[in-house]
Amino acid sequence: MVQLNLPANSKVEKGQYYKDKTGSKNIRKINIYRWDPSKNENPRLDTYEVDMDNCSSKVLDVLNKIKNEIDPSIAYRRSCAHGVCGSCAMNMNGKKWFSMHEVPF
Ligand code: FES
Repeated sequence: MVQLNLPANSKVEKGQYYKDKTGSKNIRKINIYRWDPSKNENPRLDTYEVDMDNCSSKVLDVLNKIKNEIDPSIAYRRSCAHGVCGSCAMNMNGKKWFSMHEVPF
């Protein structure tokens, strides 16, 4: 039997936790995989609390809210922003999605 071991620096670690500062009762916790190949660090999973009373329920809108209001360091790719080109395809919760515009929370 072949035994494979992943490199130690491939283990996903617990990342930062960004707590909601609005006091909203309608909070969603969003986990985002973060990895910077220019740094010699393990990937991590950051958690963001998002006030859903002031955000639409589409994934792209939630990501924009996180980037604009909570953590400007997140990066994602999009182009048309209308669900046409497929530039914003993502893997979310283990499923592949053609675009973030079609994905409701
Ligand atoms: S940016 Fe074009 S489909 Fe999302």
